[in-house]
Amino acid sequence: MIDAHGRELNYLRISVTDRCNLRCHYCMPPEGVVPKMHEAILTYEEIVEIASAAVDLGVKKIRLTGGEPLVRRGIVDLCINLAKLKNKGLEELCLTTNGSLLSKFAEPLRRAGVDRLNVSLDTPSAELYKEMTRGGDIEDVFAGLKKAREVGFTGTKINAVLINDFNDLDLRTLSEWTRKYPIDVRWIELMPIGEAAEWHKESFLSCETVLTVIPELEYVGEKGVATLYRFPDGKGHVGLIRPLSHHFCSTCTRLRLTADGYLKTCLHSRGEIQLRGLSGNELKAAFRRAAADKPWEHHLNERGVSDTIRYMNQIGG
Ligand code: GTP
Ligand code: 5AD
Ligand code: SF4
Repeated sequence: MIDAHGRELNYLRISVTDRCNLRCHYCMPPEGVVPKMHEAILTYEEIVEIASAAVDLGVKKIRLTGGEPLVRRGIVDLCINLAKLKNKGLEELCLTTNGSLLSKFAEPLRRAGVDRLNVSLDTPSAELYKEMTRGGDIEDVFAGLKKAREVGFTGTKINAVLINDFNDLDLRTLSEWTRKYPIDVRWIELMPIGEAAEWHKESFLSCETVLTVIPELEYVGEKGVATLYRFPDGKGHVGLIRPLSHHFCSTCTRLRLTADGYLKTCLHSRGEIQLRGLSGNELKAAFRRAAADKPWEHHLNERGVSDTIRYMNQIGG
């Protein structure tokens, strides 16, 4: 699928649930958001059918997201069925998780054919972690990362959202993990979407701060949405994901499927196409229509807020 601006859309992010076992301040209100009823959520059969059509149309990479994908029952079976799409052109099956359940799931996910994991972890401090996630235990994430390594996952990335007066003092400590371990730590600029839209102004910190705090970082290159750097003796990379200060829309290859069956061609636009109920040629036609209409860019800087009314946990990042 090629959009009207010549971008090849070959990456589908699938949110399998809007539920989560944590309550990160920037993502969810304390009481959580009213979760969708089971009937409103795509069944696994529907997800596989949609993913299969996407692969027929040229999608090469699928990433499962949430909410937290590992809280949905049967997630391993879904991965087994999606991994079968590698027979017809899928190259990579990935998953983004908060890591809290990973020690239990790393091995079955690996066996199911998941190729790569990204783990959200905003701070290396147990206290700050508990505060940010409203109750999470950082030891669970550490155990999950360790297990992932033991069962053979490589190329694991840590995603940390950079927040002023919260984890700005952790920049060096967390980044330095990439000297000791062959993982990437990627700092993400806070986006004014959902909960975070309310307090974005006072909490936003540009990713340039990372380079100021760690001047010895050496530029490596661009990789997907991230600009990569490394310590001179680094085993992994420090990445900067800068949707506001350096936006990367012109090279965007992503499509997103929400848990309730809508195709979004941009994280921040309101435009959505309902895929539920479509199959065969109708489904493929809907994909092509959506792709042709993919917005050129987001307007976070001009408008100060995302155009989408969805919360991040409903889109999956
Ligand atoms: P890799 O396959 O490892 O490159 O992963 P990824 O960066 O595509 O996926 P991940 O789930 O780790 O996403 C990292 C974060 O980058 C997301 O959670 C978002 O916060 C941000 N991000 C990803 N895609 C977009 C995008 O299209 N637009 C914007 N504004 N932010 C994005
Ligand atoms: N700004 C930037 N990143 C966010 N995430 C969730 N909400 C925001 C936000 N407002 C990130 C999480 C996770 C991914 C799924 O999305 O940290 O890495
Ligand atoms: Fe859950 Fe991820 Fe949202 Fe945190 S950012 S509440 S871990 S979905």
